[in-house]
Amino acid sequence: MANTVIVGTQWGDEGKGKIVDLLARYADLVVRFQGGNNAGHTMVVNGEQFISHLVPSGILQGKTCCIGNGLVVDPEVLLEEIESLTAKGVDVSPEKLMISERAQVIMPYHKQVDLARERMKGNDRIGTTGRGIGPAYEDKANRQGIRFVDLIDPEIFTNQVKTVLHDKNFYLKNYLSSDPMDEKSIIDSYIVYAQKLAPYVNNISIKIDKAIKTKQQVLFEGAQGTHLDIDHGTYPFVTSSNTVAGNACCGAGIGPKKIDEVLGIVKAYTTRVGAGPFPTELFDETGNQIQEKGAEFGATTGRRRRCGWLDTVILRNAARLNGLTGLCITKLDVLGDLKTLNICTGYECDGKKIDYFPASLKVLEKCKAIYETFPGWSEDISGIRDFESLPQNARIYLNRIEDLTETPITLISVGPGREQTIVLRNPFNE
Ligand code: GDP
Ligand code: IMO
Ligand code: MG
Repeated sequence: MANTVIVGTQWGDEGKGKIVDLLARYADLVVRFQGGNNAGHTMVVNGEQFISHLVPSGILQGKTCCIGNGLVVDPEVLLEEIESLTAKGVDVSPEKLMISERAQVIMPYHKQVDLARERMKGNDRIGTTGRGIGPAYEDKANRQGIRFVDLIDPEIFTNQVKTVLHDKNFYLKNYLSSDPMDEKSIIDSYIVYAQKLAPYVNNISIKIDKAIKTKQQVLFEGAQGTHLDIDHGTYPFVTSSNTVAGNACCGAGIGPKKIDEVLGIVKAYTTRVGAGPFPTELFDETGNQIQEKGAEFGATTGRRRRCGWLDTVILRNAARLNGLTGLCITKLDVLGDLKTLNICTGYECDGKKIDYFPASLKVLEKCKAIYETFPGWSEDISGIRDFESLPQNARIYLNRIEDLTETPITLISVGPGREQTIVLRNPFNE
């Protein structure tokens, strides 16, 4: 038994979807525990690409997938995803996909508020995905949210919308100078979604508990990344949920002693979408080269991702915050052809060296990355399947990441395909 949590260690898009899809083969249940359709997780199986925003990335392996109570779920997007996967021959029946009755529903006014606020902030905007994530979590915290158990009861749902919409329309119209929303059309469309999704709504906590008690293995799929965490990230340039491994327990409804392994997904360099600090960001030709070779465009919004060198200050932060038991290094193939590579080992701020991640954005903005430089390699490594066959310079680069993070590498990804992976240790019992 090895219940495993998979989290992003950087600012998202580390390749979590690929690794979850690969390891889901050994799991019985795959559970998302936070976020919503701000996530975009890419899987490439037999040359075909799948991008999932809400359905856990274990679905292509035919595993039972759960959407935990910690998510905010847009029912329209979920239905589209179910339909598109079904059209591709994937089984997404209620036996294979379950939504927690306690998960929160993203409503049309959440999206409207998200977009209008970003417009109003102008240059100070966060660069959200515009999917209504922040406003939906706000409503959860202020106890104005609507849960799936309420959505599928038309009477309760209708009353809740009527009460909340009054507030929302006042705010939209008078503060955000945005259009108010029509009560009837929201209720009518959501009642149709509710009818379609009702068979999927279930008590996920009980399902997971039963699975664990019968020695089944559970994979918990994180979204976003450690430095987008609402508490531990580059606040306020973060998402609105806890993305760290501890939230797998809360967002799925299990106790902390049930987790055996925590794998941190690390892109071999760093990327970020949206605004916010990024100490190792590159603004030169090397940055462009990585962006192009890595095809660094957002899987959700299509935005160009900012690119930079690997930063082990944030990786050490991620190792501590998540209690990482292993690292999965992805996109190593993208670094081929660079003459030299840099790894950030610490920051210099006002003439002082610091090796922790500052909470103050003012301090962070003054931080300059301190680098160690490594020779690159020019061989194509995308066909390599064992560590010893990697070019010596690639092995040196990887060994230094292990040293600097004091965390062993478990897995190395050398291409987007499921099979393009070097597995050093499988966290699951086979
Ligand atoms: P996620 O949000 O963490 O699941 O990551 P995304 O799917 O948003 O972004 C990762 C991108 O890199 C996707 O397009 C993947 O297909 C791709 N990818 C994953 N691993 C590798 C790899 O090892 N090499 C290359 N070249 N691409 C990869
Ligand atoms: P995956 O799971 C990368 C970023 C947005 C923005 C900030 C807040 O694919 O790694 P939000 O819409 O959540 O309020 O936006 O967080 N962001 C992501 N960046 N990958 C993601 O998910 C992200 N989800 C949110 O770009 O900067
Ligand atoms: Mg992504």
